[in-house]
Amino acid sequence: MKLKKLKKKVAIEALKLIPYQEIIGIGTGSTISYFIKYLKNIKNKIKGVVSSSHQTTKILKKYGIKIFKLNEINFLSLYIDSADEINKNMEMIKGGGAALTREKIIASAAQKFICIIDETKQVNVLGKFPLPVEVIPMAYKFVKKQLKKLGGEVKKRKNLITDNHNYILDISNLFILNPKYIEKKINNIPGVVSVGIFSQRKPDILLIGKKNKIKVINRNKID
Ligand code: 5RP
Repeated sequence: MKLKKLKKKVAIEALKLIPYQEIIGIGTGSTISYFIKYLKNIKNKIKGVVSSSHQTTKILKKYGIKIFKLNEINFLSLYIDSADEINKNMEMIKGGGAALTREKIIASAAQKFICIIDETKQVNVLGKFPLPVEVIPMAYKFVKKQLKKLGGEVKKRKNLITDNHNYILDISNLFILNPKYIEKKINNIPGVVSVGIFSQRKPDILLIGKKNKIKVINRNKID
């Protein structure tokens, strides 16, 4: 089955988990774009959405889905997003779409985080997908030097300014055996805004689009 089909399938399944009459947070990327496309059909059943990026906001606006700012609301019951890689402990790499900082903020603010992926995102060790790090532009060369010490190859993402007016450095060939340690270490470098490792805020529910079924993993049952 083509990747596109798996993404669509898992996006449709996620619709069943949407709480009615509430505001939900929504991530960024192609899987999430499919999800929003289906969400438009039930848009009157939710109060609105907190968006994680300009890209997502544009799609939400196109479909007439009401948008709230995170600062305007007191409670966010749910955040839905995808990922670039996920391991067996439900630790992830995110940020392929450069929206990692806002995604991490909204995921952390939400009571529940549902992650929807196709089966190709599952890995044994994080790091085959280049790890994105959002950095303040005036500090990027300094941060690049510090990141190189971790062992990978660091490249500034070309022609990219994030929604927060920053740069993205991508670290490739880094085998992330201890995601919690690496997340903290990178976050501690002055000039880093955030790193695309999600080991502190993991999904509560993971939906995996497989060829013949959707697999559902509840983190409460594995932690
Ligand atoms: C964006 C992300 C996305 O969740 C991740 O890149 C997955 O994207 P896609 O659904 O296109 O495979 O972290 O910053």
